[in-house]
Amino acid sequence: MNGKYQHWTLETDDDKLLWLHLDKAGASANTLSKEVLEELDDILTGVEKTPPDGLLLVSDKASGFIAGADVKEFTEVKSRDEAAAIIHRGQRMADRIEALPCATAALIDGFCLGGGLELALACDYRIATDSLNTRIGLPEVKLGIHPGFGGSVRLIELIGAVDAMPLMLAGRAVGGYKAKKLGMVDALVPKRHLVAAGRDFVTRKPARHQPGRLRALASSRPLRPLLAGKFRKEVAKKASKEHYPAPYALIETWEKHADNRRQWLDAEAQSVTDLFETDTAHNLVRVFFLQERMKSLGKQKDYQPKRVHVIGAGVMGGDIAAWCALQGFSVTLQDREPKYIAPAIKRAKKLFDMKLRPKHLNTAAGDRLIPDHKGLGIEKADIVIEAIVENAEIKQALYREIEPRMQPDAILATNTSSIKLETLGEALDKPERLIGIHFFNPVAKMQLVEIVRTDATPQELIDRTSTFIANMRKLPLPVKSSPGFLVNRVLMPYLLEAVELLSEGNAPETIDRAATDFGMPMGPILLADTVGLDICLSVANILGEQLGVAVPEKLKQMVDAGKLGKKSGEGFYRYEKGKPVSSKDAPAPDAVVTDRLIARLLNESVAVLREGVVEDADLLDAGMIFGTGFAPFRGGPMNYVKHIGEGQFVQKLQQLEKQFGERFKPDSGWKNLQEPRPRDAGQ
Ligand code: NAI
Repeated sequence: MNGKYQHWTLETDDDKLLWLHLDKAGASANTLSKEVLEELDDILTGVEKTPPDGLLLVSDKASGFIAGADVKEFTEVKSRDEAAAIIHRGQRMADRIEALPCATAALIDGFCLGGGLELALACDYRIATDSLNTRIGLPEVKLGIHPGFGGSVRLIELIGAVDAMPLMLAGRAVGGYKAKKLGMVDALVPKRHLVAAGRDFVTRKPARHQPGRLRALASSRPLRPLLAGKFRKEVAKKASKEHYPAPYALIETWEKHADNRRQWLDAEAQSVTDLFETDTAHNLVRVFFLQERMKSLGKQKDYQPKRVHVIGAGVMGGDIAAWCALQGFSVTLQDREPKYIAPAIKRAKKLFDMKLRPKHLNTAAGDRLIPDHKGLGIEKADIVIEAIVENAEIKQALYREIEPRMQPDAILATNTSSIKLETLGEALDKPERLIGIHFFNPVAKMQLVEIVRTDATPQELIDRTSTFIANMRKLPLPVKSSPGFLVNRVLMPYLLEAVELLSEGNAPETIDRAATDFGMPMGPILLADTVGLDICLSVANILGEQLGVAVPEKLKQMVDAGKLGKKSGEGFYRYEKGKPVSSKDAPAPDAVVTDRLIARLLNESVAVLREGVVEDADLLDAGMIFGTGFAPFRGGPMNYVKHIGEGQFVQKLQQLEKQFGERFKPDSGWKNLQEPRPRDAGQ
């Protein structure tokens, strides 16, 4: 059986093994679009009629195996029936692969996610490469749904619920080594051996992987309710059922139906169809596309920087250097003396230990990070990142010294959080070559990086810098050089309102609860304590001076008293072993507490848009979701505003202004939002 479809190529070799190659036309990555699955449907009909001796699923893309279902098609679904049809088609395909009489295998190099893994799970064997890029998982909950092509059933059958559930509930993908250890893949081989290993499995036909007896027992009728309770408790720590129903629905289908495979598969399909219709799924799909948009800002393929030089090995510089080394860059790290670099190297080692197994990858990352107190790396670097103390004169003196030593086209980037690029650039021969790359703390956790530009920054430099940031697996967001950029600027009034509420006698727990109930990952009081009250005060003062934001007296008093938050053992909370001591008796928040917090944040968002700090409302939403964790299921601040109605919100602000003062005065930018949009016209 040989043949060529638009997306698939069939090739039967001398051993009567059929190789099914997927190379989705017109796309850089394979996804299971309607067309791809329709072709597969046709192919499987032929295979069922004349089965080969073995069947191997392979990707012809350099980027990976299959990234999952085609998320774009999700946005085009118009009815419940259409959603059900998509899911049934995918499930049927996996069922038919599983039912083939010949041995089947999926060969995985790079990502194998969502629907891609669901097809692979329907095969008898999965063989993966030991490449760092191999990532295997079922991330559907991140889109507000759960696996629907039979993947939740098959993964649990393959490795047991104890391991499978947490992966699916968090939507976490694992590397090849972990996947092998868990039994998700049968073999891990260097890329050059992938084809031979696949051939070996389907001809030799060893027994299929099964979970051990104990692991299989987890799905037994008496144990399921117990374990389901435990899973629910774990999920509840991160996501409420009201805001994120998908993980709860996944637990329920397993708990109720794991005794009867057909019913279980039907329940899986039914449950995903229900989830498809939720606001959460719509908003999370939107967030997915926002993320894709930011990634696409960094796709200048002809720019491939390799050497990074970081100056300043403190909290930020040290961690930026470590992250770069982890992602494969060669990094030199400079500070005034070796003793300032040593702690950063120690922290980097911890990061590599956590993120990189096996040993040789870990050692290689360590080798890529070179302490360099003399700054010898400057001459060779493609990009120099300055992350020294927040002092304009000291930064300028450094630039004067390094500019003549840098490659003419190397990027000079500063991590400053508050000094104007225009001021720093005065020290340079070519001020327009300076760009801001504002990382967030902690670097390893926070995905967003603001790319700070002035009016004089060439687009070409913004593109190259965005590419560098995307290459290190962070999300670049271009913003205008202005006080607080986007994220700190929008976040600060919200934090300051929380401090006001506290000064008025509300318990910190009550205020934090208002925010977490709204869907924030952490309350504002705890967040302020975690960032450090001294840092909050300094950002607040800058915004206060330049934008007229009032700084609550309470914040100044705390800093004067040396109560700086988590790092000093006491802030608004007291800390024991790094954990806040909080009271369970604090009263539940009134709606007005939430209103005040969110109103300040949304009003500032509108101001930032009006000033053009970010290009548009979508990028603002993206920045706040990936820079602060703003309730993703609400799709970002501006999406939330749209949801409740701009006019409605302005009324709320006016009400709050009357009650609590001028800081709630609706920004003039609301008028632009309220002007009728074309789609509203005539209604
Ligand atoms: P830090 O005080 O932890 O580290 C600064 C390091 O720079 C120190 O190790 C110091 O020895 C070194 N240094 C000072 N002058 C130097 C020179 N002339 N040459 C070489 N090294 C020199 O400071 P942190 O917190 O890492 O901040 C660094 C920069 O990052 C600042 O511009 C800050 O505004 C910015 N930033 C800080 C964030 C934070 O949460 N700490 C978040 C985002 C940006």
